[in-house]
Amino acid sequence: MNILQINSSIFANRGQSTLLADGFVAQLAGGQDADVTVRDLALEPLPHLDAERFAAFLAQPAERSSVQQAAVDHSDRLIEELRAADVIVIGVPMYNFGIPSQLKAWFDHVARAGVTFRYTEKGPEGLLKGKKTYVFSTRGGQYEGTTRDSETAHVRDLLALLGLTDVTFVYAEGLAQGDATRQAGLSNAQATIRQLAAARRKDGHAGHWDRRAMPRPSHP
Ligand SMILES: Cc1cc2nc3c(=O)[nH]c(=O)nc-3n(C[C@H](O)[C@H](O)[C@H](O)COP(=O)(O)O)c2cc1C
Repeated sequence: MNILQINSSIFANRGQSTLLADGFVAQLAGGQDADVTVRDLALEPLPHLDAERFAAFLAQPAERSSVQQAAVDHSDRLIEELRAADVIVIGVPMYNFGIPSQLKAWFDHVARAGVTFRYTEKGPEGLLKGKKTYVFSTRGGQYEGTTRDSETAHVRDLLALLGLTDVTFVYAEGLAQGDATRQAGLSNAQATIRQLAAARRKDGHAGHWDRRAMPRPSHP
C-alpha cells in the first residue's frame, strides 16, 4: 500500500492537523507493508500559480522553454506522487475561513487539464481514480455540518476535479475554545482515527469505510 501524506499546517510537524494525519498514517501503516511519502507544504513551499507557470502547463512539449519545462517537471513530480498513492492523507487547518494558501498552491500545481482531469461535454472529469482520501481538518471554532463550514465543500470539489471522490473527513474543532473543548475536539478526532485505521486494516485496504457506521464526533 502506498500512502501519500500531505501536510499543510504552517507549523509543519507541530501542527495539530499534521499530528492527527501522522497518527492516522502510523496506525494505518503499522505492521503492514506500507510505503509512506510525506509532502510537507510548509517545509517545502510551492510557488503561487501565476500566468507564466500556467502558460507552461498549457504549452506543447516541443514548444516549452527550459524555464517552462522546469515548471512542468516540478508539477509532474507532484502528480506522480499522487498517481503512485493508493491512499492520500491530507492535514488541513482552517486559516482565515479557508484552506492554507500552501495547500491551494499544491492543488493549483496538480490540477492540470489533460493530465489529472479532462474537459467533457458534461464538465470536467477527474483522471485519478480508485484512490481513497482522508482529510484531517482542524479548526479553532466549530463549523462542521453548518453553512459556515467554508472548507469542506471546497476541498471536496478540488479533490473531485482530480477524480478523488472517495473522501472521508475527520474534524478536530473548537481548538481555540478553551482547554476542555480543545481536549474534547482532539479526543473525538483521535477516537475516529483509531476506528478508521482499524476498519481499513480489517478490510485489507480494499474496502470502503462507511461513515454512517461510525459514531459522529460530538462537541460539548
Ligand atoms: C493564521 C491563522 C488563522 C486562523 N483562522 C481561523 C479561522 O478562520 N477559523 C477557525 O476556526 N480557526 C482559525 N484558526 C485556528 C486554527 O484553525 C487552529 O489553531 C488549528 O488547530 C490550526 O491547525 P494546525 O495546528 O494544523 O495549523 C486560525 C489559526 C491561524 C494560525
